[in-house]
Amino acid sequence: MSTTDRELRIGMVGYAFMGAAHSQAWRTVNRVFDLPARARMALICGRDTGKVADAADRLGWDAYTTDWRDLINRDDIDVVDVCTPGDSHAEIALAALAAGKHVLCEKPLANTVAEARAMTAAADTARVAGVRSMCGFNYRRVPAVTMMRQLVADGRLGVIRHVRATYLQDWIVDPQFPLVWRLQKDRAGSGALGDIGAHIIDLTQFVTGQRITGVSAVTETFVKERPLPAGSSGLAATVDGGGSVDGNGSATGPVTVDDAAVFVARLDGGALATYEASRFATGRKNALRVEINGSLGSVVFDLERLNELEFYDATRPTVEQGFSRILVTEGEHPYMSAWWPPGHIIGYEHSFTHQMRDFIEAVATGADPAPSFADALQVQLVLDAVTRSAEIGSSWTEVSPALAAVAV
Ligand SMILES: NC(=O)c1ccc[n+]([C@@H]2O[C@H](COP(=O)([O-])OP(=O)(O)OC[C@H]3O[C@@H](n4cnc5c(N)ncnc54)[C@H](O)[C@@H]3O)[C@@H](O)[C@H]2O)c1
Repeated sequence: MSTTDRELRIGMVGYAFMGAAHSQAWRTVNRVFDLPARARMALICGRDTGKVADAADRLGWDAYTTDWRDLINRDDIDVVDVCTPGDSHAEIALAALAAGKHVLCEKPLANTVAEARAMTAAADTARVAGVRSMCGFNYRRVPAVTMMRQLVADGRLGVIRHVRATYLQDWIVDPQFPLVWRLQKDRAGSGALGDIGAHIIDLTQFVTGQRITGVSAVTETFVKERPLPAGSSGLAATVDGGGSVDGNGSATGPVTVDDAAVFVARLDGGALATYEASRFATGRKNALRVEINGSLGSVVFDLERLNELEFYDATRPTVEQGFSRILVTEGEHPYMSAWWPPGHIIGYEHSFTHQMRDFIEAVATGADPAPSFADALQVQLVLDAVTRSAEIGSSWTEVSPALAAVAV
């Protein structure tokens, strides 16, 4: 329970999926953790007056606005929390940083490397004035994932040889599923790759402390044309790449992103890695699984059993060896002392509360939160390398170094 009088006044843009998840976290964080500042849910932004007014009421925000520039221009907002699709991340974050607001931006950081570089440069400039920024790779904050990283950092796995990461969903298996923004390159940047592949790229680099240096990739768009979403006023207004009318007389438009991305990679510490991100894994709803094999042991994390970690300790006597299931709910486990007695499990939304905890702690104490925009730029460079490799017949493609940022 926060005991301070100091407030960080939050302005959040977007009130749908991530807006709701972030609201839940901002609401909870003061009550669960003793922090050097309290989050105040000051202002929420959406473009539709009726809907954003309803969201403010439902999600617990003091006030609402229909223009994100209000958040930037107001003196009584300290933090801008960006929960919009990727096509507006750069514009909002750059304006917020220039106005001296701390920024929490959802993943992936941007739709292009150029945007991510510009955001990183702006974050570096703002840091000099004490302005902090962070990208929302929330799965880092699942206690079992944080514990995985600690096991690796403590040397319990020895030399890391293999990283095996999958993030599988099935929500667009039906070809009649409409052409929502996540299926449009100009809005989302990429498909399964940037949406869920970005998570496993960040997670595995976080856990191993190693960075991906090169990739060989294949991507596929299985369903290339989809019905326009209900309420679309016209093709031009909705779809970047044009559109057509199918045999039933329904308006359709082209899917301009990948449905699935599969790639092999090398990490700078010598590990070999495989990654698979798909929205066509029938029956898999939100199946993020990572296995890491080292010379002294292995760990396995499965998001659908997020309170558990499987650990194989090869230093134990042979007769006792085997994967053990650790229930990551003890007070000694990361973040868990603030929650419930041992064995009382937590869920998906807690990762966001932990994200807000770490962000507030950093901002209030003048430290840099992680993952930084520079860390998120590195993920963007991997996404870019995967896309380029897939375009040139899976040829080996180096991940470009995160050189000096350039303007968008
Ligand atoms: N960390 C995670 O696990 C996770 C999960 C889902 C999505 N995301 C990321 O969060 C971001 C948002 O995704 P989502 O699933 O919440 O999308 P969503 O479609 O559910 O919500 C997007 C919101 O942004 C609003 N919006 C769009 N443009 C706007 C503008 N110009 N001004 C004001 N509001 C605007 C929409 O009205 C809507 O409220 C994306 O970057 C996505 O990749 C992260």
